[in-house]
Amino acid sequence: MKKTIDDIDVRGKRVLVRLDLNVPLDGLQHITDDRRIRAALPTVQKLAEGGGRLILMSHLGRPKGAATDRTTYSLASVAIRLGGLLEKTVPLVPDCVGNAARDAVSNLADGDVCLLENLRFYDAETIKDKKAASDAQLRAQKDAFAQELADLADVYINDAFGTCHRDNASMLTVPQLMEGKPRVVGYLVRHELQFLGESVANPARPFVCVLGGAKVSDKLGVIRTLLTKCDTILIGGAMAYTFLAAEGESVGKSLVEPDLFDTARSLRAEAGRRLKLPVDSIVAADMKSGASADVCGLPIPANRMGLDIGPRTIAAYRDLMQTAKTVVWNGPMGVFEVSPFDQGTLAVASAVAEATDQGAISIIGGGDSASAIDKAGLADRITHISTGGGASLEFLEGNPFAAIDVLDDA
Ligand code: 3PG
Repeated sequence: MKKTIDDIDVRGKRVLVRLDLNVPLDGLQHITDDRRIRAALPTVQKLAEGGGRLILMSHLGRPKGAATDRTTYSLASVAIRLGGLLEKTVPLVPDCVGNAARDAVSNLADGDVCLLENLRFYDAETIKDKKAASDAQLRAQKDAFAQELADLADVYINDAFGTCHRDNASMLTVPQLMEGKPRVVGYLVRHELQFLGESVANPARPFVCVLGGAKVSDKLGVIRTLLTKCDTILIGGAMAYTFLAAEGESVGKSLVEPDLFDTARSLRAEAGRRLKLPVDSIVAADMKSGASADVCGLPIPANRMGLDIGPRTIAAYRDLMQTAKTVVWNGPMGVFEVSPFDQGTLAVASAVAEATDQGAISIIGGGDSASAIDKAGLADRITHISTGGGASLEFLEGNPFAAIDVLDDA
């Protein structure tokens, strides 16, 4: 258990808060999904009400050094939205380090909030510790950048769950350098650890996992880990075709990973009847919006590809979810962005909500599944929707997070 913001007094202190405000923006810099900003509010509100002088920091996207990056990846829209939601002015500091940052911090009064500009405008933020271990210059560059951030504050808070699987300077080097000062988690990280960690480690049973996505290779770790914990795994998405093809089924032009056939066979053997595969699919000649699509069992004809789970699979998966006391869902069941191949994913979203209505704990592992829940308007009927994409997957896999481990124990 890690200390949280409830365990410290921030009044009059300079509080450096790492958030994950990496939200999607359209071409006009409009925020298209502000879930991560809203998820950060309880921590920010609590710290501001407690009289802290808040220095918020985040990355946005993956700037690559182009001349237009300062506009494309600016946190300007985020500062405005955050200010609106907090009903407070949140000035955007034009740089995350240097005089601009130091001046902004020295002007903060108790309860004030500022947001530093995108941390990833500095390459030092994303230098990997592994690379830095064999390159003294990179190590020095990362440390110098982190030291500038660390020097801004008396207290460090990590509430950036979506980035907790990264060893970015602001996530790991800064708290390392702030040893001796309070370093604790915010409410969002505490909540994520509770649901993705404790609820999955000691699940109410039956425990049903629904895993989708294009590639088995992306989900191998999570399948292996969840197989040791859950009662049933329902597989959807293109990765199902790798499992089916590995067993000699004809899957037409569906996406498969032949180099993973052996792995898929051994996972299936290990899981036995606990691992379920689709019995029918929505197939088409191409993955185009509005393409003429048919329901098809196995085999899938050579000139067709499976792009979503079919109605018999939806019904079977729904029945299994209705018996569950814990449901974890990660990954779409089909090509969710392209209609009509979004129906399986939306049906699973409804089934997860129905299971929750009947008393199950439901946990959505971020990314596309979280978008599907939002698109279906079901967010209020889910126990926990993770703000992490890669982070939630890695956490479910059971990978240790150095960015959390470094923080103070309760
Ligand atoms: C995410 O969107 O998953 C997080 O913000 C982390 O972003 P990254 O994958 O670019 O590190």
